[in-house]
Amino acid sequence: MTYKDVYDSWKADPEAFWMEAAKGIDWVEAPTRALDDSNAPLYEWFSDARVNTCWNAVDRHVEAGRGEQVAIIHDSPITHAKREITFVELRNRVATLAGALRAKGVAKGDRVIIYMPMIPEALEAMLACARLGAIHSVVFGGFASNELAVRIDDAKPKAIIAASCGLEPGRVVHYKPLLDGAIEQATHKPEFCVIFQREQEVANLEEGRDFNWHGFQYGVQPAECVPVEGNHPAYILYTSGTTGAPKGVVRPTAGHLVALNWSMKNIYNVDPGDVFWAASDVGWVVGHSYICYGPLIHGNTTIVFEGKPVGTPDAGTFWRVISEHKVKSFFTAPTAFRAVKREDPKGELIGKYDLSCLQAIFLAGERADPDTIEWTQAKTGKPVYDHWWQTETGWTIAGNPVGVEPLPVKLGSPTVPMPGYDIRILDEGGHELPRGELGAIAVKLPLPPGTLPTLWNAEARFKKSYLEHFPGYYETGDAGMVDEDGYVYIMARTDDVINVAGHRLSTGGMEEVLAAHPDVAECAVIGVSDDLKGQMPLGFLCLNSGCNRPHEEIAREVVQMVRDRIGPVAAFKLAVVVDRLPKTRSGKILRATMVAIADGKDYKMPATIDDPVILDEIREALREVGFAAA
Ligand code: COA
Ligand code: AMP
Repeated sequence: MTYKDVYDSWKADPEAFWMEAAKGIDWVEAPTRALDDSNAPLYEWFSDARVNTCWNAVDRHVEAGRGEQVAIIHDSPITHAKREITFVELRNRVATLAGALRAKGVAKGDRVIIYMPMIPEALEAMLACARLGAIHSVVFGGFASNELAVRIDDAKPKAIIAASCGLEPGRVVHYKPLLDGAIEQATHKPEFCVIFQREQEVANLEEGRDFNWHGFQYGVQPAECVPVEGNHPAYILYTSGTTGAPKGVVRPTAGHLVALNWSMKNIYNVDPGDVFWAASDVGWVVGHSYICYGPLIHGNTTIVFEGKPVGTPDAGTFWRVISEHKVKSFFTAPTAFRAVKREDPKGELIGKYDLSCLQAIFLAGERADPDTIEWTQAKTGKPVYDHWWQTETGWTIAGNPVGVEPLPVKLGSPTVPMPGYDIRILDEGGHELPRGELGAIAVKLPLPPGTLPTLWNAEARFKKSYLEHFPGYYETGDAGMVDEDGYVYIMARTDDVINVAGHRLSTGGMEEVLAAHPDVAECAVIGVSDDLKGQMPLGFLCLNSGCNRPHEEIAREVVQMVRDRIGPVAAFKLAVVVDRLPKTRSGKILRATMVAIADGKDYKMPATIDDPVILDEIREALREVGFAAA
């Protein structure tokens, strides 16, 4: 079979294609049909099936004789801990944890927030929720209390499972005070919290509300897997949109199982038993799909890595982990390799390790710049495949189907659409553009199994954000083109979302924080190019008239405010004070022009600009704070 055969077979009969893929899943009641389009343009997959995610990710492998295979390897170069958990151990641990949650009243449909670092217990908490049919929502540890509070109020969890702390190089992240602060700030209060106490920090527990992870599991009856409907939400994952209010992406149970299981062989080319490693974090979609669910559903060993590409202890960490744990497929974000390349440009540390186990490297999360791909290919001697997807889709929209047929790599392109995705390039009016022309990237509805059916508690926002601009299509929010060979190219976001070190952030959310400063009259945040992180946020502040405080002091204060309200992960470090912001005559801030000035790129003078002189003022202000290219 070639890629073309597979893609064409999907196109000819999507129903048959996905029913065939569904055979890879253990059903309690098998689906009688794949697509339910009775409520179009909202679609559901395998909705008449009954199934359990935890059974498919854990128990079925024990039943099939893989009980002694390692399911999870934990490798923490920060704590020097290394630990292996087999599938049978995982089954027992997850069943007991689920039993303890059930004893405290957690049942199918209840939400549970998980706020944990990169330890196996984070996956166990996710799987225990899945076992009960409870809906988890993992919150990334780099977010501050306020972000956690927003998610608590939206998801309304019955329980929160957290660790006492996370560990960043040289810094303990005190999760418990962040959690307590979030609960205090939120209107909704969870009934109880479960705290996993790490050796590095033992948190104070609040009598009656907080339970110790170990103590609360003592003597409970393990829980069996609870069958749920195919369209039951497996989890909610919040992601950045245009405003400060994050979007709660809903992941449907059955489509998620089918699509991830299909992707492990066809995209990542691993077989059950192989070791798969995604160096990301459980707080992001990559962590959900390819640290936790995908590998486990497919019977692979997954690695939970608590460390960084550099500095833990050096730029050879990736290579050490790959060779030590015999990783066959490795997945990370381009920014990680840019960090490695900066520390070890000649790739000397690679030579210290035997990488013969490694078959291929996969990149996603942000644009993969050709330099980084070429460097990684040359230094490792391994094929490097870019692929493009989003929190909303949960798996690859365009990629290289290595397990079907590795296609020639074209630098700058994540390759071709995966089955289920009919990609079109549209102009502003929704007309299809010819090959080679740049436009908005849209996917003809329905989206394939596993992708978001809606946003949590926000169907109107779902329709408005994704379906209304181009009726009949899903609007990806990315702009790009398709070339004459059908290769897809991703150029930029069409909204105010930026990508910092592979982390998706909302400039609108940062602007809301800046605007709350008492001296700020108006502000704008843009994403400027950064050699390491791809993009970095940069804030412009216009101060209230009469404010004569030192500008540096106000800039320092807003930087701290973003850190406190959004979190360190926003990486917001720089704000400049300007007299005025460039705008169109209708008052729209010309953010794209400001980005071009900061990056030293050519730009066309916007025809509708109110006062072109302001652009010179912006250039001047940027030069003053060190933007030499401006
Ligand atoms: N908990 C708490 N804080 C966190 C955190 C977490 N889980 N993850 C990051 N942070 C903090 C960092 O410590 C840093 O804080 P600082 O401002 O005090 O230094 C801040 O958030 C910014 O983090 P980051 O942008 O990741 O920068 P970095 O300098 O720590 O590391 C890279 C840079 C490139 C090494 C790092 O971004 C990386 O490994 N990226 C891999 C990409 C990735 O995992 N992407 C996920 C999607 S695939
Ligand atoms: P997230 O939802 O955090 O996974 O971020 C999704 C966004 O990251 C996409 O909409 C793109 O803007 C960007 N992105 C992800 N993968 C790629 C890629 N391979 N190439 C270019 N951009 C990417």
